[in-house]
Amino acid sequence: MSNKVLIIGAGGVGRVVAYKCAQHRDVFGDIMLASRTKKKCDAIASAIYQDCGGRKIKTARLDADQVEQTVALIKKFQPDLVINVALPYQDLPIMDACLETGVNYMDTANYEPKEVAKFEYSWQWAYQERYANKGIMALLGCGFDPGVTSVYTAYAKKHYFDELHELDIVDANAGSHGKAFATNFNPEINIREVTQRGKYWENGQWVETEPHEIWKDIDYPEIGPKRSYLIYHEELESLVKNFPTLKRARFWMTFSEQYLTHLRVIQNIGMAGIEPIRYKGVDIVPLQFLKAVLPKPEELGENYTGFTSIGNRIKGMKDGKERTYYVWNNCSHVDAYKETGTQAVSYTTGVPAMIGARMILTGKWSGKGVFNVEQLDPDPFMERLMLDGLPWHEKHNIDLGM
Ligand SMILES: NC(=O)c1ccc[n+]([C@@H]2O[C@H](COP(=O)([O-])OP(=O)(O)OC[C@H]3O[C@@H](n4cnc5c(N)ncnc54)[C@H](OP(=O)(O)O)[C@@H]3O)[C@@H](O)[C@H]2O)c1
Repeated sequence: MSNKVLIIGAGGVGRVVAYKCAQHRDVFGDIMLASRTKKKCDAIASAIYQDCGGRKIKTARLDADQVEQTVALIKKFQPDLVINVALPYQDLPIMDACLETGVNYMDTANYEPKEVAKFEYSWQWAYQERYANKGIMALLGCGFDPGVTSVYTAYAKKHYFDELHELDIVDANAGSHGKAFATNFNPEINIREVTQRGKYWENGQWVETEPHEIWKDIDYPEIGPKRSYLIYHEELESLVKNFPTLKRARFWMTFSEQYLTHLRVIQNIGMAGIEPIRYKGVDIVPLQFLKAVLPKPEELGENYTGFTSIGNRIKGMKDGKERTYYVWNNCSHVDAYKETGTQAVSYTTGVPAMIGARMILTGKWSGKGVFNVEQLDPDPFMERLMLDGLPWHEKHNIDLGM
């Protein structure tokens, strides 16, 4: 099988996707990594050449905001699939380019307009008919969360429940990078995400909270109790739609006191702002300027220790009886760095993206139109997680502690 993939975005996640695809020559015959800054692609390509037995990947410069540039690159390289791991802002222009050229599309984060800190699936779901008519597939949100957490939900429903009633996605980063403040993925996207109001699903409607208003000390396997805050996360939107028996769906993420204190200061002094301000004759977006001075997520890996732990805690009914289920993965920052030169947050996103690409290219996942990951068969994906670096564990009928 000699499939061609075009990976767009040479950040932390793009690095892992490129590494993991390069490790599987049987599925990913020809790989091109394209990004705004070509030298970042070249640096990744030469690291892969060294670490993956002389495997060569192609590189290109691309501004994916410009649909015609992506169309031209697709026409030249002729990929079977475009893996978008640039920023959420590029989702729609890249989807447009795939539509124009008739190539399958996938990403790991839903579209967000630059000028409003708001993310939702409506913009991408609106491509359903056009993708279906063109006979191509768009796979949305195939990282860890969304992505693996969506597959975990589908797997639980398929094998263990007749009805899902309560879903809690619990996401801990119990790692330490030794910096006073840094974000684990793109600071601009990360800060926009964690400073917004909280939101969860209960009894058929969304309930809004102040940012970080609701918290809980949640016990994570091999890590112990960590303070976890209820935040809104994008997979909740598609999961409550695709599993309509859910009475409650929430997302929890750990933040240290130190992280939250820095975040409060950043917000209080206006550095989280996304409106441009005029400084010495130049328009500057405070959050983008902040990104430029913060540690780069892709450079945190070297001294990162500890684990991430992300999983789903589910309550529901099977054969008329209530049951519970917990499925999770713990990922070591040190091991992620050893294998791909980056930390576990990028690793846990990039590996599922490669697996999703494998599912499409091997025909295990197919369809015409726009799909969220939980709409597809979870079994082959769960099998690959075991083989590709993100093994999962499960427990049945325990006290979920939620
Ligand atoms: N589902 C999940 O679990 C999950 C978790 C974490 C992250 N994510 C998503 O993964 C994606 C990548 O995250 P990351 O941490 O790797 O971010 P990152 O380190 O900032 O990398 C993004 C890359 O995209 C490139 N890029 C930005 N604008 C571009 C454009 N117009 N054209 C071409 N390339 C462009 C950047 O190029 P330059 O460096 O040249 O600017 C950069 O190399 C984001 O969408 C993020 O939301 C998903």
